[in-house]
Amino acid sequence: MKLTILFGGASFEHEISIVSAITLKEKLSNFDLTFIFCDSDHTFYLVEPSKMKAITFSKGEHKKMAQLSLTQGGFMQKSLFSKTAYTNVVLNLIHGGDGEDGTISSLLDFYAIKYIGPRTDASVFSFDKVYTKYLCDAIGVKSVPYEVLKKSEQKDITIGYPVIVKPSRLGSSIGVSIVKDESEMDYALDTAFEFDDTVLVEPFLEGVKEYNLAGYKSGDEIKFSIVEEPHKEEFLDFEKKYMDFSRSEQVLKAEIPEDLVLKLQTNFKKVYDGLFEGALIRCDFFVHNDEVLLNEINPIPGSMANYLFEDFATAIEELSGSLPQKKMI
Ligand code: DAL
Ligand code: MG
Repeated sequence: MKLTILFGGASFEHEISIVSAITLKEKLSNFDLTFIFCDSDHTFYLVEPSKMKAITFSKGEHKKMAQLSLTQGGFMQKSLFSKTAYTNVVLNLIHGGDGEDGTISSLLDFYAIKYIGPRTDASVFSFDKVYTKYLCDAIGVKSVPYEVLKKSEQKDITIGYPVIVKPSRLGSSIGVSIVKDESEMDYALDTAFEFDDTVLVEPFLEGVKEYNLAGYKSGDEIKFSIVEEPHKEEFLDFEKKYMDFSRSEQVLKAEIPEDLVLKLQTNFKKVYDGLFEGALIRCDFFVHNDEVLLNEINPIPGSMANYLFEDFATAIEELSGSLPQKKMI
């Protein structure tokens, strides 16, 4: 199967997308893969798969985490999209703004290119954490209580501390803080407002269990994979989330009671059906006082949550056989 993996992007999650692409290169090695890299300045490069090892990891500041060397293998082509359009399915692996937010899906739709990934409407409602709350309210999925703060207005929160403060439109824990009391709030807000003018504040729920469900639709059926995140003493920041590669092995060992599996699947279906066809998404749920709460929807999950599927190549084949047709209005 021919598959074009589109990765990189201009957002703060640029490096994670590079890691995701490298991971899928291994996982989908039986496919006829083409890699298109989008640089931070929105330039597209065709990358030789053999050069995809040209990556450097370094601990420390996340910006230095992954870099792709384009000096040797990559070259720019202005019409990459029209060249790949009619033979390949594109897998959109660009996380973050200008990728996961509907921008890339719109571009692909415009050129009538078939792609795996959320359509534009689904991207808009899931990438923005405040819009996700509105979606949950509309479809009857419970989520964590919240307040919205805008950079342009001064407002005190009414949620009791500790709280978690998140930029509305960013992933991978970037700009997110846990705030124990009021004295820490200004710093947390300044940090979050660096990334977005809209910030979401939620109670920091102690003692929750977290379950990650990845799923995609194949024909009329949603195929799921569910794991319980291992109990963690502390908040997972960017580095812990993405530099600790042993995490993916731990999560597969969890055993989850059947009735909880059903509840989680029911909530996932409510989110997915009619909105996310064509995409493999990961919904992260909390269970708090026996109540299932949606924490977030990841419309383009890190490394496509491949570690949650025993046979990831088959998942991608099935998904690409069930892509929605572009609707002409
Ligand atoms: N936003 C990252 C990629 C994730 O949550 O998987
Ligand atoms: Mg996320």
